[in-house]
Amino acid sequence: MTGAASGMGAATARLFAQHGAKLALFDVNEAGLNEVAEETAATPYLVDVSDAAQVTDAVNTAAKAMGGLDGLANVAGILAMKPIAEISPEEQDRILRVNIGGVANMIRAALPLLQEAGDSTIVNFSSYGAMRAGPGLSIYGASKAGLLAMQQSLINDIGPRVRINSVCPGVIETPMNQKRIDSGHLSEDRMKKINQLQRRGRSEELAEAVLFLSCEESSFVSNAVLEVSGGQLN
Ligand SMILES: NC(=O)c1ccc[n+]([C@@H]2O[C@H](COP(=O)([O-])OP(=O)(O)OC[C@H]3O[C@@H](n4cnc5c(N)ncnc54)[C@H](O)[C@@H]3O)[C@@H](O)[C@H]2O)c1
Repeated sequence: MTGAASGMGAATARLFAQHGAKLALFDVNEAGLNEVAEETAATPYLVDVSDAAQVTDAVNTAAKAMGGLDGLANVAGILAMKPIAEISPEEQDRILRVNIGGVANMIRAALPLLQEAGDSTIVNFSSYGAMRAGPGLSIYGASKAGLLAMQQSLINDIGPRVRINSVCPGVIETPMNQKRIDSGHLSEDRMKKINQLQRRGRSEELAEAVLFLSCEESSFVSNAVLEVSGGQLN
């Protein structure tokens, strides 16, 4: 699982550990990663998902240590919420390299192992921003829409032994949104206009969606895009 040091990745790791999963956690945030790994009795791997060589090395080491691999959750992602004129080419490159390249690197490295195990699953973290016109979401939204396009194509390539699905979170209370929560931009009042349920989501609510898509209960679900947004309005 990538992005496991914080927010929804950490919540997903905790829920999976409660269900007895043996986990390998990948992140660039060493302190957070070690903390969550200790809590979940998982093995931490300090990995930048945009670096294909690091990813391949860590995936193979983790699979060897665990005796195989039957699930992958690509949670890691970065956000820049600003007009395109304020996004430098370097920042743009970084968003695309982490949000799309990171997922592609993980899938390329993990796929032979997932196919070998069979009954395996991939869950990618896209976003409501992939499907809606949010201000300042051009490059980020493009990266997350790219994941949905990647999934559409992958179902032709990955064969019958691996299911692949995406979750599209709405506004979730995580460190990624903390500044916007603190500034009042995602205040409780404002949430009344953002989604039908009139509140921010919790990381644990996303973890439940990932669990469903990763276990036997979703055995005939593949190529699904599950929005978990409380009914995002715009
Ligand atoms: N929070 C939201 O409202 C929201 C909404 C829609 C989609 N998402 C997506 O959900 C996912 C999880 O977001 P979150 O809100 O929990 O964010 P978060 O910032 O709390 O956690 C993201 C984690 O990804 C890790 N990460 C970032 N770049 C990495 C890299 N190159 N290699 C490895 N790890 C890396 C970070 O260190 C962090 O631990 C992201 O993909 C995000 O884009 C979030």
